[in-house]
Amino acid sequence: MQTLIEAYRSFLPVPADARVISISEGGTPLIPLTSISLRDRGIAVYAKCEGMNPTGSFKDRGMTVAVTMSLWSGAKAIICASTGNTSASAAAYAARAGIQAFVVIPDGQIAQGKLAQAMMHGAKVIQISGDFDDGMAIVKSLADETGIALVNSVNPHRLAGQKTAAFEIVDALGNAPDYHFLPVGNAGNISAYWLGYNEYLEAGRSNQRPRMIGCQASGAAPFVLGNPVERPETVATAIRIGRPQSWDLARTAQKESQGWFLAFSDEEILSAQRDVAERDGIFCEPASAVCLAGVRESIDTGVIPDDSVIVCTLTGHGLKDPATAIAQSPAPTRVRADVAEVRAIISAD
Ligand code: F0G
Repeated sequence: MQTLIEAYRSFLPVPADARVISISEGGTPLIPLTSISLRDRGIAVYAKCEGMNPTGSFKDRGMTVAVTMSLWSGAKAIICASTGNTSASAAAYAARAGIQAFVVIPDGQIAQGKLAQAMMHGAKVIQISGDFDDGMAIVKSLADETGIALVNSVNPHRLAGQKTAAFEIVDALGNAPDYHFLPVGNAGNISAYWLGYNEYLEAGRSNQRPRMIGCQASGAAPFVLGNPVERPETVATAIRIGRPQSWDLARTAQKESQGWFLAFSDEEILSAQRDVAERDGIFCEPASAVCLAGVRESIDTGVIPDDSVIVCTLTGHGLKDPATAIAQSPAPTRVRADVAEVRAIISAD
C-alpha cells in the first residue's frame, strides 16, 4: 500500500533517500453527516473522520513526516508535550522507527486511551504537575539543550504532514469546500489545513479556498477572547490549551479565509458528541465534537447560505476517552441472567 508520504511526495519536504516511517496513516473517509445536512436548503455537511488513523487521531499525518525527517537528520530520540494524542502518535512512530520517545503530559488531565497508547508503545511518560502550556515551555527548552528532536507542531514537518488532509478532501470532493470547521487547541491543525488548501489552489487542483472556522471550548478559548488564557479548563482535555503555539499562523488562516472563531460550553460539546454518535453512528472524542456544535450554530444563526458545502474535521476517535462517554450516558440496565427478565426490559422499551 502507498504511504501518505508517497501519495503526496511532491508537496512534502521528504528527500528521496529518507527511510519512511509509516503505519499506514491518512486516506481517512469523508462521510456525509445526515444529522446536520439540510437537503431542502442544499447544505451538505461532511465529516473527515481522522479517528480512523492508526493511532486514532489526525496527529499521525504529521508524525509520519516529523519522525521520518527526525530520523533522516540523525535524531536518536524525540520529545513532545501533549494533551494526549500527540503523545500516543509520537510513541507509536518512535516505536516503528526504533528510537525513544519522551512525552510530557499534564498530570491526571489526559484521557485514558491516550495514556494507554503512550505506555504500550514504550514511550517514557513524564507527568508534570502543570498543564499543556507548562509542558510546552519545558520541552522547547529541553529540545534546544539536548538536541532531541521536538515533534510538537512548532516543528514545520508536522504541519507539512497534516496539510495532506486538505488535499484528500479536495481530491474527494473535486474542489475545496465552502466552509471548513475544526477544533482549535495548539492551533497547528488549522494552520496546516490552510497551507494545504493554498498549495492545492496554486497547483490548480481546486479553484477556491474555504472559510476556516476554528472552534474552541469556552474555558480554553484564547482565539475568541483575543488573548492567552491562564489555567484553561474544559471536559475536552485534548484542547485544554491557553497559549497556542501557532497563534500567528492560525490568525492568518482565519483572516485570509474570512473565517471566524467560536467557543462552546462543555455541555454543548458533550451534546454534539452524543448527537453525532446517536444519529450518524460516528463516535468522536469531545474535542472533535466542538466543531459540530460550531456547524450547527452557524447554520441556525443564518450565516451559512443555501447550497453550501461544509467539511468538519473529527480529529480523534471516541474510544480515546471512554470515561467521559460513560459518565454522560445512562447506566446499563442490570438484570439477572434470565430470559424472562431480559424479555421484560425489551418489551418495556
Ligand atoms: N482535536 C484533538 C482530538 C486533539 O488531540 C487536538 C490537539 C486538537 C483537536 C487541536 O489541534 O492543537 O492542532 O489545534 N491535541 C494536541 C495533543 C495538543 O497534544 O495531542 P491543534
